[in-house]
Amino acid sequence: MMALCALYAVWGLVVEVAIAFGPVPRITWEHREVQLIHFHESEVSNYSTLLLSEDKDVLYVGAREVIFALNAVNIAEKQHELHWKVTEDKRTKCAVKGKSEQTECRNYVRVLQQLNDTFLYVCGTNAFQPTCDYLNLISFELGGKNEDGKGRCPFDPAQSYTSVMVDGELYSGTSYNFLGSEPIISRHSTQSPLRTEYAIPWLNEPNFVFADVIRADQNSTDGEDDKIYFFFTEVSVEYEFVGKLMIPRIARVCKRDQGGLRTLQKKWTSFLKARLICTIPDKNLIFNIINDVFILKSPTLKEPVIYGVFSPQLNNVGLSAVCAYNLSTVENVFLKGKYMQSATVEQSHTKWVRYNGEIPNPRPGACINNEARASNYMSSLNLPDKTLQFVKDHPLMDDSVTPVGDRPRLVKRDVKYTQIVVDRVRALNSTIYDVMFIGTDQGALHKAISYENGMHIIEETQLFPNFEPVQTLLLSSRRGRRYLYAGSNSGVVQSPVAFCDKYTTCVDCVLARDPYCAWKPLEASCIDIFKESEVERSWIQNIGGDASSCSDKVRENSLQHTFKHGSTAELKCSQKSNLAQVVWKFKDDVLRVESPKYRLLEKALLIFNLSEGDSGVYQCLSEEKVKNKKFSQVLAKHVLELKKIQHTTAGPTTAAAPTEGNSRVPKVSAVSTEGSTAHTSTTLMVPITTARIVTKPIGPVLTSAASKTEHFNSIPDTVPEKTMFLKSNDNFLLMFLFLFFFILFLCLLSYNCYKGYLPGQCLKFRSVMLLGKKKTKSDFSDCEQSVKETLVEQGSVSHQSGEQLKPAHDTGYETEPDYGNSQLQPGDSQVSREAKDKPFDVKCELNLISYTFPSYWYLLFVLCGK
Ligand SMILES: *[C@@H]1O[C@H](CO)[C@@H](O)[C@H](O)[C@H]1NC(C)=O
Ligand SMILES: *[C@@H]1O[C@H](CO)[C@@H](O)[C@H](O)[C@H]1NC(C)=O
Ligand SMILES: *[C@@H]1O[C@H](CO)[C@@H](O)[C@H](O)[C@H]1NC(C)=O
Ligand SMILES: *[C@@H]1O[C@H](CO)[C@@H](O)[C@H](O)[C@H]1NC(C)=O
Ligand SMILES: *[C@@H]1O[C@H](CO)[C@@H](O)[C@H](O)[C@H]1NC(C)=O
Ligand SMILES: *[C@@H]1O[C@H](CO)[C@@H](O)[C@H](O)[C@H]1NC(C)=O
Repeated sequence: MMALCALYAVWGLVVEVAIAFGPVPRITWEHREVQLIHFHESEVSNYSTLLLSEDKDVLYVGAREVIFALNAVNIAEKQHELHWKVTEDKRTKCAVKGKSEQTECRNYVRVLQQLNDTFLYVCGTNAFQPTCDYLNLISFELGGKNEDGKGRCPFDPAQSYTSVMVDGELYSGTSYNFLGSEPIISRHSTQSPLRTEYAIPWLNEPNFVFADVIRADQNSTDGEDDKIYFFFTEVSVEYEFVGKLMIPRIARVCKRDQGGLRTLQKKWTSFLKARLICTIPDKNLIFNIINDVFILKSPTLKEPVIYGVFSPQLNNVGLSAVCAYNLSTVENVFLKGKYMQSATVEQSHTKWVRYNGEIPNPRPGACINNEARASNYMSSLNLPDKTLQFVKDHPLMDDSVTPVGDRPRLVKRDVKYTQIVVDRVRALNSTIYDVMFIGTDQGALHKAISYENGMHIIEETQLFPNFEPVQTLLLSSRRGRRYLYAGSNSGVVQSPVAFCDKYTTCVDCVLARDPYCAWKPLEASCIDIFKESEVERSWIQNIGGDASSCSDKVRENSLQHTFKHGSTAELKCSQKSNLAQVVWKFKDDVLRVESPKYRLLEKALLIFNLSEGDSGVYQCLSEEKVKNKKFSQVLAKHVLELKKIQHTTAGPTTAAAPTEGNSRVPKVSAVSTEGSTAHTSTTLMVPITTARIVTKPIGPVLTSAASKTEHFNSIPDTVPEKTMFLKSNDNFLLMFLFLFFFILFLCLLSYNCYKGYLPGQCLKFRSVMLLGKKKTKSDFSDCEQSVKETLVEQGSVSHQSGEQLKPAHDTGYETEPDYGNSQLQPGDSQVSREAKDKPFDVKCELNLISYTFPSYWYLLFVLCGK
């Protein structure tokens, strides 16, 4: 039952695509718009392991065959570097085993942990012979110990790994053999090395993402132990599924665990794991892949909070979620929850069910605390066999860990989150905010806060210019030294936590709703409050976005333009906030830009066929609504003037020099340009008839050159492309072509299906599609039922797909949706007409068509809408 539910939910994703998810980042900073510090060396790649030493202000970077020590305040400053290469001999041996000599048979640094003040413990894959060593931080040289790193570092650089150093002992999650088929969670320790049992109930093809220690409350009297938590996704044993159903897990072990005396000798006696839940129940969405975790520990918090980023297993629409868990919820599951046990049904088939029998005492998997000690169980070595045997057979809890608020903190579409760190900051009015920094697989960083049960994404920053995934993310949150460090295949980037100085007006500074930023009226600047030595009362900040206490001066500067009859003017105005709307006013009235006389571009207004009535003052306003309050500010002011017709000049047939307009010397704060009617008359037709967005001025155009004028410093002089998810126009085209062929392929497939040329696969595909639609139905006879129902709804489905296409018009790619409609509609009606007198098979096919098309049109819409 559960398995089927899960199956429905996963497939539900395919269909439930029309739902709009997630807040839009208010600001999109392109890579070149913000000042970030980069570090990378030629010939060195895969900068994927980072370690920050806050007291020394050093960032250690583990890359391929190199370890660097960088100045954490400015990572461009390299302090040390150490080459750690694979010997020729090992490389050849590795290549003989069928691995790539150029890539896999290298040394990828995977473990960098602080051992003590003078040593780092480091491990590398070392051509599939994992090796660990001690790095002396004074000489920056390896000790040459070359310890066998098996169980601490993966063999294969592509395999998952995680590690944490606790009191000089390394805890790691990785794989134990060459093939990567034997997963292990182990403690490397001279006194008491421990590991997991090699058995499916313990670990089943896990993908490790994170490990950290949570110290016991020093003041509590129960003598609890410190605990080490591991986070991973593994193949489910408890749910049945056609394929492999992945489950996100949290596992924990106790620090003082010594293993068992007979049973579980040198194995964990405290290894327990539970399922982490991150779902939206009413939308039937299950986020079952965990990508990263951050544990927020702060003196201002009653208990640590675990933040995880998740994505669904079948992520065809690119959904991601952030879920947060209270530590007490986690502890209660392990301390009081029910266990699961396997039961054999029908010979070889095993099923995992809740264990309702008697639980041995002391409780299996519990850490040794004062209560256990009182009963004379001084260490795990004293534990009775009954308890040990039980925990060996029942490492999985039946209870799951539910997120705070029973739903995700944040759900976002069109993005895959890979990394997360969280900073806890006190805003000006003393309210505390947990600011989440989330890295994406496209090299971007989202910064979000939770506000009144909703999320606000303050900004999106492109950290890596080549759109590669953020692989590691670290936060340094010391006062006055707040930085983020991100590692990727090509290098490391250091970013400030906020870009307050980018906001040039009070309204902009306050509307950012950034807890790091406040407006300083005296200096008329937006400042980072954590960089100032003391807080002043006059500063303005409002995380709710109420900017009414701002008193920005009205912009007095304006740009003059003179024009000739019938020419075209381009008035520039750019708007950075993705949540604001641009409104144009002419002589203090809102301009009806829908009229064919105007065309509103992303960063300008075009006015065609200028005549005397068009002269006057044009104002460009940005209007942003926050909680029913509208804040508007003037972004630019343009004055248009009709040029006196000079009868002595040559007629309009003379070809005007195109440079004429631009060569004019700018006046104090105004630029005067002019166009000639000669060109306009011939090119004027083009912009009106074409549906494509015109990004370059057409023909002779009056250009304001506003971006070059210093006085307009609030107008960003860079191009705010709001297409972060699409790399470039080229990619856009490629995507479109890909989609086009894919749709064509689908058409052919469904046609062939419909004709019955592919009976077997067809039936399977069809039933799968049906399962997705009808979540409450469980077998194929129900599929028939759902087909009958959907046949009735069919009209509404195609109608819906039409609606989804509408917004795509805005992009100017008019031909695509039109073409799509003409392809879809006839096919649809033809099928439905014939379906009436065809047998059941055809009806299911019809269903396939009507449900796949909307989802791909939806995708197309998403791409076009950007
Ligand atoms: C640091 O650890 C190394 C290796 O275990 C040890 O040799 C050294 O004495 C330690 N140094 C200090 C200062 O504790
Ligand atoms: C190392 O980086 C290269 C690109 O520089 C990438 O293709 C490769 O997959 C990376 N390898 C690993 C193991 O991350
Ligand atoms: C422990 O108790 C002391 C005194 O009661 C207090 O000052 C301290 O903050 C407490 N520590 C923690 C971690 O609660
Ligand atoms: C988690 O902790 C917070 C504060 O400590 C509390 O308000 C909230 O109710 C807790 N949530 C759950 C699910 O326990
Ligand atoms: C601080 O400001 C926020 C946002 O306006 C508001 O929700 C909160 O109640 C304020 N806190 C205090 C202590 O005034
Ligand atoms: C331009 O405007 C004039 C009136 O101002 C009008 O007579 C003429 O038809 C317009 N030309 C175009 C191409 O719209």
